[in-house]
Amino acid sequence: MKNHPERFKKQVALVEQAMDLYLPAEDCYPENIHKAMRYSVFAGGKRIRPALLLLAAELFTESTSQAVPAACAVEFIHTYSLIHDDLPAMDDDAYRRGQPTCHKVYGEAIAILAGDALLTLAFEILSSRNPAAGPDPFSPAYALHVAPETRLRVIYEIARSSGVNGMIGGQVVDMESEGKNPGQEVIAYINQKKTGALIEASLRAGVLLGGGREEDLSRLGRFGSLLGEAFQLVDDLLDVQGDRDKMGKAGGMDAQREKATYVAAQGLQKTMDKRDELYRQAMLLLAPYGDAARALQEITGFVFYRDY
Ligand code: IPE
Ligand code: IPE
Ligand code: MG
Ligand code: MG
Ligand code: MG
Repeated sequence: MKNHPERFKKQVALVEQAMDLYLPAEDCYPENIHKAMRYSVFAGGKRIRPALLLLAAELFTESTSQAVPAACAVEFIHTYSLIHDDLPAMDDDAYRRGQPTCHKVYGEAIAILAGDALLTLAFEILSSRNPAAGPDPFSPAYALHVAPETRLRVIYEIARSSGVNGMIGGQVVDMESEGKNPGQEVIAYINQKKTGALIEASLRAGVLLGGGREEDLSRLGRFGSLLGEAFQLVDDLLDVQGDRDKMGKAGGMDAQREKATYVAAQGLQKTMDKRDELYRQAMLLLAPYGDAARALQEITGFVFYRDY
């Protein structure tokens, strides 16, 4: 599986180094769960959410080290959502990020707990007075020099987007819509909530931690929401026509499970048309930032027109 586009290597390297510091070592008691957490986090993954968070912060500040803990938090939450999404009670998938799913290797109980632990660790990092905690508590690079009020807003954004008002709500409707033809409003809800919400929160957290204005918060939040909705739309397209080796997960599963996707309801062409329309809207929202948003424009192009 390919990890991520070359262009975002810097951001991804920063986040991977920090995630390694935050995660307990594999030989730390009780070993099995720490192994399972690391197994899923470091299996690969495109790291789109943390990259977006850091790129949003970079629009407003040169030093983004204060945004790294939040970038790790969103990737931990995302990884937890994948571990649970793959469980037999949910999508029942055997293959993820190019390797057997967490529960296939560690069993269901440890996979459930590893997901819970990643979710909880995210909020431990976000709320810690010294988020540099871990093996290197004195590393200034990861210190979160952020005003308490900003910190609280970031925690709120990420919590809300992960719960029933966001990802969990979307996952519930995704599950309950299997085998049904629920109509476009419900499909839009699924895409916006199960995937759009955390991506929107990543953008908003980046703006808050970079020191952007309220108008940037709403504009880039809106951008994140469109990008996130499209992210799921493209994921559903790729389930039919993606490069399976690069994706590192099985294809064709949505049709098999009769998932209520835009692709199932409208077909490939209309889904691609909708993707193109969302792309235009997303790029318009970046226009006010001109060249400063070049990296965000590039990652947007990647998200919309990726093949994995
Ligand atoms: C897959 O997310 C699940 C969705 C929300 C569509 P990604 O495509 O970001 O998965 P990784 O992180 O690259 O493995
Ligand atoms: C998952 O959507 C969204 C999550 C919140 C995890 P999918 O079920 O389509 O993701 P994949 O295709 O398994 O990665
Ligand atoms: Mg799913
Ligand atoms: Mg799935
Ligand atoms: Mg999918």
